[in-house]
Amino acid sequence: MTGTGEEKRMDDLLRYGRQKTVVVTGADRGLGYELVRQYLERGDRVFAGKYRTNWHLLEGLKERWPETLDIVPLDVRSQESVRRAAELILQKTDAVDVLINNAGVWLDHDTGTILEDRIDYEAILEQIDVNALGALRVTQALIGAVLNSFDQLVVNVSSEAASMTECAKDSQFGYCMSKAALNMASCIVLNGIRKRGGAVINLHPGWMQSVIGESAKPDAPYCEPARPGEVKFYTTPEVTARGFLKILDEPERFSGHMPGFVNYRGDRMNW
Ligand SMILES: NC(=O)c1ccc[n+]([C@@H]2O[C@H](COP(=O)([O-])OP(=O)(O)OC[C@H]3O[C@@H](n4cnc5c(N)ncnc54)[C@H](OP(=O)(O)O)[C@@H]3O)[C@@H](O)[C@H]2O)c1
Repeated sequence: MTGTGEEKRMDDLLRYGRQKTVVVTGADRGLGYELVRQYLERGDRVFAGKYRTNWHLLEGLKERWPETLDIVPLDVRSQESVRRAAELILQKTDAVDVLINNAGVWLDHDTGTILEDRIDYEAILEQIDVNALGALRVTQALIGAVLNSFDQLVVNVSSEAASMTECAKDSQFGYCMSKAALNMASCIVLNGIRKRGGAVINLHPGWMQSVIGESAKPDAPYCEPARPGEVKFYTTPEVTARGFLKILDEPERFSGHMPGFVNYRGDRMNW
């Protein structure tokens, strides 16, 4: 390991190849923040979508990496905000190697089953708006720059909750439906860009400690295995982000005719 910051940066560049340009949405905290931090640490150029104005973690990173980090105000629910964010990014670069649609919300805290009268349709719509349509808006706004890059990679942070074949839940309609819609968007986006060399990967972060995954503690009753023998993995944004970077450095292993659908450890997920 070398001494100075600049030497470490060169060291990382030699290890990981050329400098990538990466866009991460929902980077205020949790997984998005950690992805930004790890890409910066190894010398890549990052545009970080900032949603919450009163949360200042990203500014700390900006002090450390003033040249390679741009903080971009971004609310993925708003077409106008997405347009302005894309404009800011495209003023500074015409190529985005990796677009990571990470922004997400989980609002289904107590929805009940279909037999109860507690389904919150507004919350379902909001989750679809952020988790599925948000990713689509950002992808559309930046797809030209993605296809103009070396990696040409769209990454959607999905969830095991999207899986039809593995579904064991009897509630949480909004979150599950929104992530399933996101996975379908991935398929359609891929069909539109495959011939131009583009690739799409859906990533499941694992059961991760964050605002969304606040109950990701082994002793939380909510995290009881849904089925006998099922194994849940508990992880942190730091560990998950490290896994994601490894996967995204070898996208050809995970994306082909269909988008990849893999967890942070690189295991394939069932659709
Ligand atoms: N944690 C888990 O166990 C788990 C499991 C499966 C999938 N995921 C997925 O992983 C991704 C990251 O989640 P996380 O666990 O890191 O949760 P988190 O800490 O809550 O991070 C979500 C990020 O998205 C941002 N966001 C919310 N609404 C937004 C909007 N309208 N526009 C732009 N950004 C917005 C949040 O901003 P604020 O914090 O400022 O609201 C936050 O920065 C999400 O897509 C989530 O669905 C998480």
